[in-house]
This record gives sequence, C-alpha cells and structure tokens, in this order.
Amino acid sequence: MNDLLPPHTHHWQYLETKLQTILESYAYQEIRTPLLEATELFSRSIGEVTDIVEKEMFTFIDRNGDNLTLRPEGTASCVRAAIEQGLLHTPGQRLWYKGPMFRHERPQQGRYRQFHQLGAEVYGLKGPDIDAEIIALTARFWKTLGLDNLTLQLNSLGSKVTRDHYRQQLITYFTQHLSQLDEDSQRRLKHNPLRILDSKNPHLQTLIAQAPQFSDYLDDSSHTHFTELTQLLTHLNIPYQVNPRLVRGLDYYNNTVFEWITPDLGAQSTVCAGGRYDGLIEQLGGKPVPAIGFALGMERLLLLLTQQNKLPEFNKLPHIYLILTELTLSSGMHLAETLREILPTLRILTHCGGGNFKTQFKKADKSGARFALILGEDEIAQQQVTLKDLRSSQPQITLNQTELVAYLNPILNQLTT
Ligand code: HAM
Repeated sequence: MNDLLPPHTHHWQYLETKLQTILESYAYQEIRTPLLEATELFSRSIGEVTDIVEKEMFTFIDRNGDNLTLRPEGTASCVRAAIEQGLLHTPGQRLWYKGPMFRHERPQQGRYRQFHQLGAEVYGLKGPDIDAEIIALTARFWKTLGLDNLTLQLNSLGSKVTRDHYRQQLITYFTQHLSQLDEDSQRRLKHNPLRILDSKNPHLQTLIAQAPQFSDYLDDSSHTHFTELTQLLTHLNIPYQVNPRLVRGLDYYNNTVFEWITPDLGAQSTVCAGGRYDGLIEQLGGKPVPAIGFALGMERLLLLLTQQNKLPEFNKLPHIYLILTELTLSSGMHLAETLREILPTLRILTHCGGGNFKTQFKKADKSGARFALILGEDEIAQQQVTLKDLRSSQPQITLNQTELVAYLNPILNQLTT
C-alpha cells in the first residue's frame, strides 16, 4: 500500500481528468460505491475457487459479527448497487467508477495490495455493438494519452452451456494427465479447470497446448457474436489478437473477454481487462440483464506513461509568495483573498509564522514562486504593493491593486501551469 506524494499526485490528477473526459464523451456517468461489502458478494460473484477469493481478500468480522471484505474489484459492488438502487430498469445504463481496490498479493512493480482501478460497466445490452463500444473507449484512452505498444487480446468464453460442456472435456483430459499437474492445477481441476489454461508454470505449457481447444466447442450464437464484434473492431480500425488461452481470473465472464497487454511493464503486463458477464446480475438476485465492463489499473497505466515518457511536465509551484509584517498581516490576508477571487487560477502562498523581510525573501526563493509580493507598512500607507520577479534581474515595481491585477492577468497564462 503506497502513500502518494507530490509530484506524483499531479500525475494522478492529470490521468484521472483525461480518462474522465473520455468517459463523459461516451456519455458514461460516475457511480461511487462503498469500499466495504459483505464477503459473500465477492465469493458468489468472483467465484469460490479463484485466487482472489481463496487467497487475496482482506476479510474480517466486524463488531456486529458481520463478515466483511475490502473490495478487491469494482464489478460486484456495481452490480449490487444497480440491483438495490433500481438502476437496471434503464436498458443501456452506462456507469463508470474509480477508486482503491484491495488484494493481498505478493507486492512487486505494478502489483500492490491497495491499488486503484478505473472501470466501467454497462447493463441491459446484449449485442456485440456495446462490446465494440467498450473496446473503442479503452482504445481511445491509449490514443489520447499518446501510448503505444499496447495489444488487444480477445477471446470468447461462449455461453454457460458451452462452457459447461467444454469444462467436462477439460476435466477428462487433465484427469488423464493428473500426475503431471502441479498442486494448484490439481485443486483447480475439480472446480475451475479453465483456470489451468491460464497457468504460468513452464512445465505445464506442453500439456496445456495439447488440451482441447475451446473454439472447437463454441456454440453458434456465441460464434456469431464474436464474429460480429471482430468485424466492428476491424471497421473501427482497432487491431486485435484472438487468444484462445485468455480465460480471465474471475468466474463471472461469458462470451467476450479481452485484455490490453504491453511488453513494457515486465511481469505485470495487463493494463486493462474486461468482458461480458450476462449471468451475474441474476445470480446475485436481480433480473436477468446482460452486462459488460472493464477495469484498468491506474498504477500500471502511470508506470507505462512514465516508461514511454508521455507524462507532461507539471509545475504547481506558487506564482506569488506574499511577504508581510506583523502589522500588515490582516490586510495582506485580505488582499490574497481578493486576488484569489479575481484571478482564480493564481497560486498565492501567504507567508505565515512571522520573521523579518530577509527570512521571508529566503523562503520565497526556496518556495519556487515566480514573484514576491511585498506588503509592508510603507505599501499600506501608500495603498500599494511591491512586486519583485524572483526569477529575473528586473527591478521591482510598485503598483496599486487594480494595476497589480492588470499586470498579472495577461501573464498568468504564460506562467507554467
Ligand atoms: P482484473 O483483471 O482482476 O479485472 O483487474 C483489472 C486490472 O486491474 C488489471 O488488468 C490490472 O491492471 C489492475 N490490477 C489488478 N490487480 C492489481 C494489483 N494487485 N496491483 C495493481 N493493479 C492491479 C477486474 O477487476 C474486473 N472487475 C474487470 C471488469 C470490469 N470486468 C468486467 N467489468
């Protein structure tokens, strides 16, 4: 779990604003849900036999004896809220969210125990058009941020019936080779054999490569859905790679699943992932409503932006350091408030804590401010202020308040933002 400090917080703000603007350009609206939910919500949706539920959740019993969990992802909470708040009556409900998620994983670069996702979920639309929209939206993120080297991997997990049938075939196949399976895969064999396909164990790769192929079992309607989606993506100029091994680590998916991956982040290569989960809302007690969504990892995206040198320079240093005396303190604070009202983007740091002019000038210089604004007793007497450019050798100037505003206003845009 990380503290986020300046200047990194500026990078976060930049990224959040960019992503929000794009989500709004697709008419998605923000939803905020609690960080804590009933544990059962996650075990029922993500699946009992998944890494998240088996090993990674921060779970505890509260004072009332309720079993609660810090959310490991946003989809389940969003579905719960949509059911409880009656958001499913509007077909085509498009929601987005951002915030911290918690998974007790082994921390490394790009993988943390508290991390942040930004995601979107759409309810009530079953066609491949919305799948294409969701993918186009994520592609627009990368385009707007100037990122490259991201590949879209795509797969279809078919309908539940197809998957059950395929599951049986996998169980039969892997049972025949039981002794070759590692401990994790043996455990998965019973409850979640599809996840064996996702194993990173190098000793299992040949066995996995020879396993029955899901595409041979795909039902007609899932096949049509997938073909139509790929046609739309081609039409939208979004390249993709079909990856039959892409199964995702959460149980709720069916049909379309996708991941955006990059070779630039080492082991944690998935920046954004999602897919369809048409059965989940009904499974959690709502009416049968189709759904699709995605989430991206903010930390991974920021690492990628840094890696590819795509973060703009930020300067949030004060424009003005206001220098005062004990006697001019109240007038000075008043002046600062007035200036903030007239010039809302002006950053003024008012000196606090007393001290003579010399010390204050030293602090002004250290603060990185462009100007020192001096309000001494002489200035008060003459109803003026003195402005000194700390970053050039220009002589200081004396102005009244109106002249000061007129002086600062046109140059404010040129001062680095
Ligand atoms: P997920 O694949 O578990 O999917 O997570 C989505 C993204 O969150 C990952 O691709 C990664 O970028 C980021 N992420 C996950 N775990 C960590 C971690 N420990 N540290 C840093 N980043 C991490 C979901 O969570 C689904 N809810 C996505 C979804 C939404 N599917 C449909 N709707």
